[in-house]
Parts: sequence; structure tokens; C-alpha cells
Amino acid sequence: MYLPKPLEDSITVTHLKKLKQQGEKFACLTAYDYSFAKLIEECGVEVVLVGDSLGMVIQGHNTTIPVTLDNIKYHGTTVRAGLDKSMLMLDMPFGSLNSPQQALDNASELLKATQAQVVKLEGGSTQIKTVEMLSAFGIATCAHLGLQPQLVNKLGGYRVQGKAKSAAEEMIATAKELEAAGADILLLECVPASLAAEITNSLEIPVIGIGAGAEVDGQILVLHDILNVTAGKKPKFSKNFMQGQSSIQAAITRYVTEVKRGQFPDKTHSFL
Ligand code: KIV
Repeated sequence: MYLPKPLEDSITVTHLKKLKQQGEKFACLTAYDYSFAKLIEECGVEVVLVGDSLGMVIQGHNTTIPVTLDNIKYHGTTVRAGLDKSMLMLDMPFGSLNSPQQALDNASELLKATQAQVVKLEGGSTQIKTVEMLSAFGIATCAHLGLQPQLVNKLGGYRVQGKAKSAAEEMIATAKELEAAGADILLLECVPASLAAEITNSLEIPVIGIGAGAEVDGQILVLHDILNVTAGKKPKFSKNFMQGQSSIQAAITRYVTEVKRGQFPDKTHSFL
């Protein structure tokens, strides 16, 4: 007989908010298939993201722009099959959120196919109305500020964001607006550690960082980066967790332990 998995056993946005209130750090990681999702969950990762980074580490493109909704749906269903407890978060790919209505339709399709708990949206202030609409229709969102790889053609490269005083002030204001619009989580990518700390302290929702220093609530990295299988130049904020470990499981467990103890990221993996 098919017995549905009890919802109360899964990690939810409420659970992450509680961790933030208790000052406990949590670990997040990308995954793109069943086997890695299962292993990652067993190692104690709270949030598993099917990121559009799959365009680069799985498909071999040099940006995330070619990733389609069907790609996220496919990888999302394979990752879902490996998870019992960890929260499943999916990226909304480039071109899937050009209006609040389009985003609502696409997010609904993704959630029905994968039973993900959260969708992540790049776009910052342009997505405030979308966050509001998704929230009104019961869809939990993770807003994404700082470096947004889907905007690479406008940014002209992958660079640290929010270094100038005016850019930092704008990011703080946008973060507050996204929270007020109903965002459940905020992700900060490649921002100075002091700015990320200020944003984290000024919001009630949990903040996940990647290249955003140690004072955010949770950390996320790309799986292929921490296992040292990403081709080409490695991002400064990432770390080869395979070094000194004898198995993939030991490397992921080390990552989780260092995040929870506040040991990762140190200064060498942060922007100061
Ligand atoms: O697609 C991705 O992997 C991301 C990172 C921020 C983790 O969005």
C-alpha cells in the first residue's frame, strides 16, 4: 500500500525560520539527480537546490541562460525521488518569470511535477510583484540578490556586487521590500561579508549565502565545486571538500559540519 510521507517530517520554511531564531546555521547544496540527492540528505543537508547551475555543470554551457523549465522539471523529479526529509528548492530558469502571471503558471507546473517546497527567483527588485503574487497563491519563494548569473550579459561578467555604498544601500532596501512582499527566504550571492551580515540582521526570514561570508543563516555551494569536479577555474568562495577525505560522503559530511560550526566560510572564501 502506498503511504504518503508525512509532511511534518520534512524541513519547511518554518523550520528554517526557527533555526535562524535559535542562531543555528544550516547547510544547503545543489543536486541534479536521485543518487546524489539521497546521499546529500543522509549527510544532513537541510536544503537541496536544483539550481540552474545545471546548465554549466551538467550541460556544459558557459552560462545558465539556456536552461529550460523542462530541464528543471526533469532534474527536479529525479532529485525529489531521493529526498524524504530535506527541503527541495527549484530555480526558476531564465525566461520563465517575465511577468507575475507567467511565473505563477510556471512555478505551479514545477511544484505539481516535483512537490518542491520552494522556488528561487533571480531578478531582485523587478520580481517584487511576482513574489507578492506567488505568495498570495501559496507558493513559497526564495528571492536572490547580489550576483545574479541570469543577468550576466548585462553585468558583463561574474563579479562581487554591492561594493559601492549606493549599491549596498539599494540591496538592503530591496531585501526589505522582498521580505515585505512575502519572500520566505533570501539568497545572497557574491556580496561583501559585512553587507550580507547587515542584511541578515535586518530581516526575519532566513538568509542563505554563497560567497557572502559567515554571518548569514545558511550556506549553499554547488555540489560539483565542493567535490572538485567542476571544469576550469574554481570560484574563490567555494572549497574543495574532497581534499583530505576518502569518500564523497565524507566530503559532504565535512561541508555540513564546517557550516554548522561556523568554520566555513573563513576569510579566504569570503569577500571582505
Ligand atoms: O543555480 C545555482 O546553483 C545557484 C547557486 C546560488 C547555488 O543558484
